[in-house]
Amino acid sequence: MSEILIRGRVLTFNERPAGVEDDAAYRYLEDGAIHVIGGKIKAVGTFEELRLGARAADVVDHRPHLIVPGFIDTHLHFPQMQVVGSYGAQLLDWLNKYTFVEEQKFGDDDHAARIATAFFDELVRNGTTSAVAYCSVHRQSADAFFSEAERRGMLVIGGKVMMDRNAPAPLLDTAQSSYDDTKSLIDSWHGRGRARYAITPRFAITSTPEQMEAAGVLAREHPDCHIQTHLSENRDEIAFAKDLHGWARDYLDVYERYGLLGRKSLFGHSIHLSDREVGAMADSGSVAVFCPTSNLFLGSGLFDWSRMHQADVRVAVATDIGGGTSYSMLRTMDEAYKVAQLQGARINPLESFYQITLGNARALSLDNAIGRIVPGGDADFAVLDAGATPAMRLRMETATTLAEELFVLQTMGDDRAVDEVYVAGRAMKSMLGSKILGPAAAERGRQRVSA
Ligand code: GUN
Ligand code: ZN
Repeated sequence: MSEILIRGRVLTFNERPAGVEDDAAYRYLEDGAIHVIGGKIKAVGTFEELRLGARAADVVDHRPHLIVPGFIDTHLHFPQMQVVGSYGAQLLDWLNKYTFVEEQKFGDDDHAARIATAFFDELVRNGTTSAVAYCSVHRQSADAFFSEAERRGMLVIGGKVMMDRNAPAPLLDTAQSSYDDTKSLIDSWHGRGRARYAITPRFAITSTPEQMEAAGVLAREHPDCHIQTHLSENRDEIAFAKDLHGWARDYLDVYERYGLLGRKSLFGHSIHLSDREVGAMADSGSVAVFCPTSNLFLGSGLFDWSRMHQADVRVAVATDIGGGTSYSMLRTMDEAYKVAQLQGARINPLESFYQITLGNARALSLDNAIGRIVPGGDADFAVLDAGATPAMRLRMETATTLAEELFVLQTMGDDRAVDEVYVAGRAMKSMLGSKILGPAAAERGRQRVSA
């Protein structure tokens, strides 16, 4: 079994930090080490403590960089890489003009395989080691997504979108075919290695009542699968959804009626919600997924971070590529901070890094495996360099605390600030572009120093 000792400044969270002074919320080791055996964390401590117990391991020295849990992106669209930066439209026009056009290409297996490779390259480049993705309506697009994740050993959640109305004919399935395809994808992928399935009715506008019913049946038959959809992102969308489901008290009620709320349910955007909807989300343990770069780019609105937390709604943060404009969770938290600022709220830098690691893992109920650097956890890490660019280096000359360093990383950082990425204990970023991603290649990619 492969064994390494990764040395560097180690930071991991135990709780959501209440403020920049809340040092009980995290563990920080200035000269820390992580002993990894067979893709799992065996021990975490100071380098002095661990060097003797890990005598057989290769040592990889990342000092002075900061090692944090790999980032988790809780909502993005795998078929929308070539939609990013599409000009001049808000949600419904943007879907019709750009997105639904692009997603039709995923009926072609070669195209889906090519984009799957590019997709996971981009995640790794940005320090994201786990992602929750929408695939296109084509079941083969989900096969391409899961196959590529499996090849890299990444923990992912994904699902083919179910959509049977209000989109171009080549993108439509039916209630029955979406049920059958989802079921067979769950059989093929859910629980295979690190893969998990999300039942994915795209949103209330593109599903008939019959398809919503089918999604509810799938949810009841597979309670260990996640459910993902979109909710109250844009005012025209909300009006259209209410029009289509005239009986509903509000937008969330559509999902509620079909049994789609719960602790495994992820509601992308959740911006324009009534008090009743916020209460129902909190009571059911459903997750509101905040996608700041997308909400700003599409002019959708401002997610109310304080209101959601005060109401005890579980919150996750995500890029929402391709409505979102960056694959980087650092850029994402920079925009989240600004969205909060516009509403007189503050997201402190410790809380930001908690959110994109343990916070998102908790929102996915996967914190027993990912989001933390603790013994028994999966060995997924991002190695961060707050001096990655000349401007960052200059700025760092005046930063004296860990919180300041994190805030510089968030405000000025992007993929250039991610020096290395480990997935299940294997160095991945330095191996990008290599045809072989097996352990032998990862071995060659490492800078070796003996213990
Ligand atoms: N609502 C339904 N589909 C989509 C999508 O692909 N992107 C965004 N941002 N919102 C949606
Ligand atoms: Zn989305």
